[in-house]
Amino acid sequence: MNIRVFPDQYGAAIYAAATIETTVKTSTSPVLGLATGGTMTPVYRQLVEFHRRGLNFSHVTTINLDEYVGLKPSHPNSYHAFMQENLFDHIDVNPDRIYLPSGDNPDLEGVCAAYDDVIRSNPIDLQLLGIGVNGHIGFNEPANSLKSNTHIVQLTEDTIRENARFFEDEQSVPTRAITVGLQSILLAKHILLLAFGEKKAQAIRDTIKGDISTTVPSSFLQVHPNVTIVLDEAAAQLL
Ligand code: F6R
Repeated sequence: MNIRVFPDQYGAAIYAAATIETTVKTSTSPVLGLATGGTMTPVYRQLVEFHRRGLNFSHVTTINLDEYVGLKPSHPNSYHAFMQENLFDHIDVNPDRIYLPSGDNPDLEGVCAAYDDVIRSNPIDLQLLGIGVNGHIGFNEPANSLKSNTHIVQLTEDTIRENARFFEDEQSVPTRAITVGLQSILLAKHILLLAFGEKKAQAIRDTIKGDISTTVPSSFLQVHPNVTIVLDEAAAQLL
């Protein structure tokens, strides 16, 4: 694992955005695996800035990690809305090349199978990841066993509590999500995991130095040959 520590999240976000820029510029049809959440907002802000200065996204395919079950894409707290607001509305990505799982489709099993087909047909060059305080990546939550493919997951109390900050209250946070599986994440050619703030410090320590265990899903990144972990000093304090 390549570990990069920056004094603050802004330096880290610039580094992450520059890594994405290199992938976008050097591949003829780059595929980016994208994440949502507070960690990603400074990264997407920087990418939008790069676009204003001329970075072209028209040849890029994007595949997001996850979506809440039960939220329509138009719901302000859906990950569809997050991506539009923070990135897609501001860059020239082709809407036909944007993939996010639909959480409001009654045939969720069908959505999962179709999403795995999308990932198989568009191998991911660079996968962006945030991390939960409990070590989740995507919404692969700590459990006795982990799933390899796209699936429906029951969110843990930790995750619901953490994500309540984006909703009116904890009761409004959906309890289920659709997420790509661990295998889909590990098949990406390069993985870029970002974590900011002391709340993430224990999860980062467990990811890098702990045993590989289904109770810390991010620990499986230890088996991937090309992972870059981008941290601010607060998230790196237990290393
Ligand atoms: C979101 C996702 C999650 C988040 C994680 C961290 O698409 O896959 O794993 O990356 O929950 O969220 P923040 O960045 O809000 O702390």
